[in-house]
Amino acid sequence: MKVLVVGSGGREHAILWKLKQSPRVTDLYCAPGNGGISEIARCVSVEATDIEGIVAFSKENNIDLVVVAPDDPLAAGMVDALEAEGIRAFGPRRNAALIEASKAFSKQLMRKYNIPTAEYEIFDDSEKAKEYVRSASYPLVVKADGLALGKGVIICNTAQEALDAVSSIMEDKKFGSAGQKVVIEEFMTGPEVSVLAFTDGKTLVPMVSSQDHKRVFDNDKGLNTGGMGTFSPSRHYTEEISKVCMDKIFKPTIEVMKKEGRPFKGVLYFGLMLTDKGPKVLEYNARFGDPETQVILPLLETDLLDIFEAVIDEKLDTINITWKNEAAVCVIMASGGYPEKYVKGYEISGLEKFENCKDIIVFHAGTKKESGKFYTNGGRVLGVTAIAPNLKMAREKAYKAVSDIAFKDAHFRRDIGIK
Ligand code: AMP
Ligand code: GLY
Repeated sequence: MKVLVVGSGGREHAILWKLKQSPRVTDLYCAPGNGGISEIARCVSVEATDIEGIVAFSKENNIDLVVVAPDDPLAAGMVDALEAEGIRAFGPRRNAALIEASKAFSKQLMRKYNIPTAEYEIFDDSEKAKEYVRSASYPLVVKADGLALGKGVIICNTAQEALDAVSSIMEDKKFGSAGQKVVIEEFMTGPEVSVLAFTDGKTLVPMVSSQDHKRVFDNDKGLNTGGMGTFSPSRHYTEEISKVCMDKIFKPTIEVMKKEGRPFKGVLYFGLMLTDKGPKVLEYNARFGDPETQVILPLLETDLLDIFEAVIDEKLDTINITWKNEAAVCVIMASGGYPEKYVKGYEISGLEKFENCKDIIVFHAGTKKESGKFYTNGGRVLGVTAIAPNLKMAREKAYKAVSDIAFKDAHFRRDIGIK
């Protein structure tokens, strides 16, 4: 089978790495891909958001399956466009991807069907939002409604901070049209866990749990990033909590999406907070997480192509999905200065050591390859994943590997996998 993966980061590299192990995959393509991805797939110069370009390429090259990984093309209806041309595609349709693309939609859905989440109000008028925050209690959380590269969430400790957040989102349009509405939410506390699940709209199979580290510096200091590292499984996500989540959150979510005429097929990502009143939904994503995927897929035993096809054919109940009883840690090596200004184009050394390694995998997020050498080409550059019998060993192994890899001004957190 000829498979095309849409996207260009570490998550896409991990999906391709896993698909490459499938005996039924004959040709792998990635649009647009990156330097590391070009080692295992043919990179195609079509942007991930170019729906017409992806459809045309898939038709011309008789692609058998397209995996749409990032949020933007899903929200814009890339899966619908592929299906309309008779091309098999993995990912939710546009009307289901709305569960991530509009926080107002997902909050209203949860309220309507009693799925546990933070209390909230929605505003489409900045004056009304400001009036509300002036008399609210603190802290509270101001969120842009739409997709904002993970940056549209502002935790406010004072009314002034909330007034500034509302102005920047709704009046200065810091996140463009994503800020036409805001969700203003109760602040919750507790450990955060990500649970991704495969679902065909009827059956839902959770993957192993994981945790993300979003801030740029150790001990969760500094600015928010796309994610500085992940580990799996989470120590907080017990068997008992997983049962509660299944009954109160996971199953109800796919049932109500179906009921609302928006059956969800693909990967549904539950961002959860384990509060003292039980697990609550922080956010839904309509796709694999990045860098969660870089610790989850290395633990998956089952053939990923089989799972993708079972989801598309709504036969997920017919396959048995199994996981290695091990742990994985992924440390992101980023360009110095990220998530603000950084320089690209530095040569990366030390990668060859891990080329044939089974328990250490270097996923490329922002690299390019020229004349046989790899260079930095983005904010997040590499995700170094190690697999071991437990988290402590996986952590040690990942950091040992990180110390063997170098590029100018490389930055990484030293506390991934501790909490
Ligand atoms: P989101 O993109 O909605 O998951 O928000 C990004 C991050 O902001 C989350 O991972 C949490 O750390 C934090 N956050 C979001 N909503 C809340 C909330 N209601 N209470 C506390 N923290 C929150
Ligand atoms: N790591 C969080 C996300 O993919 O949205």
